[in-house]
This record gives sequence, C-alpha cells and structure tokens, in this order.
Amino acid sequence: MQATATKLTVDGLSKTYRGAGGGGNVTALRDVSIEIGEGEFVSIVGPSGCGKSTLFNIIAGLVAPSSGRVLLDGDQPDDLLGRVGYMPQRDMLMPWRTVLDNTTLGLELNGVRKKKAHQQALAEFERFGLAGFEKQWPAKLSGGMKQRAALLRTFLAGRELMLLDEPFGALDALTRAEMQQWLLDVWQEDRKTILFVTHDVEEAVYLSDRVYVMSGRPGGISLDVEVDLPRPRRAEVTMDPAFLDLKQKLLKPLEAAVADPGRIGDGPAAPGSNR
Ligand SMILES: Nc1ncnc2c1ncn2[C@@H]1O[C@H](COP(=O)(O)OP(=O)(O)OP(=O)(O)O)[C@@H](O)[C@H]1O
Ligand SMILES: [Mg+2]
Repeated sequence: MQATATKLTVDGLSKTYRGAGGGGNVTALRDVSIEIGEGEFVSIVGPSGCGKSTLFNIIAGLVAPSSGRVLLDGDQPDDLLGRVGYMPQRDMLMPWRTVLDNTTLGLELNGVRKKKAHQQALAEFERFGLAGFEKQWPAKLSGGMKQRAALLRTFLAGRELMLLDEPFGALDALTRAEMQQWLLDVWQEDRKTILFVTHDVEEAVYLSDRVYVMSGRPGGISLDVEVDLPRPRRAEVTMDPAFLDLKQKLLKPLEAAVADPGRIGDGPAAPGSNR
C-alpha cells in the first residue's frame, strides 16, 4: 500500500559512543536515513551489533545522536511522550504490578489518570488475548501472553508510532507464527505506523510493506525493498515465488554483512576487512 504522508524521517543519523570499546570510541551508526509513511509497516533487518537498538533508542528520544535529525510529521518534536510507543528488545513487565497495571504504565507516565488508563486498557484486553488475566501477576503468563501485554502497553503509550525491537525473538516457532498473524490482524484494524526490528528475513517480508537492510558495524542502510505482496496475508504466502524472491534479495546483503560484521572501535580496520 502506498503511504499517504511521511510519519517518521530519520535524516543522516550517526552515533558514536565515546569512551566505549575498551576505552576507545564505538561508532554504532553512520549516516542512517530512513522514511516511514503514515500507517506503514516497515522492518529493519541487520546483523547483531549493527546498531538497530541504538537507532530505536535515538528515535524514542532516550539517546542523543552524534549528528543527524529525527522528525515526526516533518517537525523536530519537543516531546515524544505519548507520540512514540517503544517496546525495547529486553522488555520487562514489572513483576510487582498486575498485568493490567503493567499495560497502563505508559499511559500513566503520559499523565493519564489511573481510572481512565484502566478503562482504555481494559477495552483492549480481549483483542490482545489477555481477557481474564487483568489481576494476575506477570509471572503467571505464558511467553506469548507476556509479549502481548508488553505490546498492549506500547500500543497504548504510542498514539502515532510504534517501535518494536525484536518483540518475538525469544518465542518458540509456533507461538511466534501465531503472534505474527495476530499482530498483522491488529495492525490491519488500526493502521498505526510500525517500525519493527528482526533478525528474521522471513518475518520481515511476511509482516512488512517495506524492509530496510542494515550493513555491519557501523550500521548504515544497504538496501530498501518494497514488499508488494497482497494483504491480508496468510501463512500460505510464504510459499509464493514472489515471497521467496524477496527473501533471496534481502538475504544476499544480509549474509554479506554477517560475513563482515565490521569492527568495534574507531581504530584501524582489522586485517582482511575491506572497510
Ligand atoms: N550504551 C552503550 N555504550 C557503548 N556502546 C554501546 C552502547 N549501546 C550499544 N553500544 C555498542 O553499539 C553497537 C551497536 O549496538 P546495538 O545494541 O545498537 O546493536 P543491535 O543491532 O541492536 O544488536 P542486536 O541485534 O544484537 O540486538 C555495539 O557495538 C554495541 O556494543
Ligand atoms: Mg538490538
């Protein structure tokens, strides 16, 4: 689907962590530019350590870039609270809060009163497959349910843009497939703009309108591929020749990036490195 307006613009973003990498500097991102349209579902794939989580931390306003800009609706936002929902890679539900109180955390941080936050969250419990578990402790939930609770928190916190950093990375294959289908259905209903990080090329193609491939450290964008498969999508599409072609197209630069992961620090390139 062709997007109508640009929701998120990342313009020439670079990030160097000073004093990291054994006392030296680590350049995690170099000149990253991406654009996400309103209501688009875009994935980023890249080798471990190429700076995907760093990119998300910057977009969410948690980490300052060394250079470059992040724009929402074409403007540099003063305050991202309530606009961007971020589900970090190691998302943790707070064990001392009930499932319901975990899902309302972002709303409460945005200043929404507890009663109103509860109402908003409860209205979504059924759709997020959590009905009946409102008063439970997170420890009582299955892996998939924990992820759905964390997704609900992110969904409620970010009205405009959701950043999801490998939300299904730790799930078994079957639960993961279920969760992908469920996320597609939820997204199809709401059309929130989603930026999704995954290691899994098949997951990226299955879910997305577009996929960016990142190169090894320091991360840059090496490919931007449109996924023009019809929606709604069902598992059968993964057997489609067009699906397999897209997968191949993405795997090539990704395998090259994994074979040459780049280097830590800003010192001279390692022997054999072509950087
Ligand atoms: N707070 C930090 N201080 C110093 N270096 C950091 C910090 N956070 C990340 N890095 C470094 O920046 C690089 C990119 O890390 P990042 O976590 O963004 O990668 P990633 O692509 O998300 O990796 P993965 O796929 O394993 O989650 C790595 O070399 C990492 O060691
Ligand atoms: Mg990461």
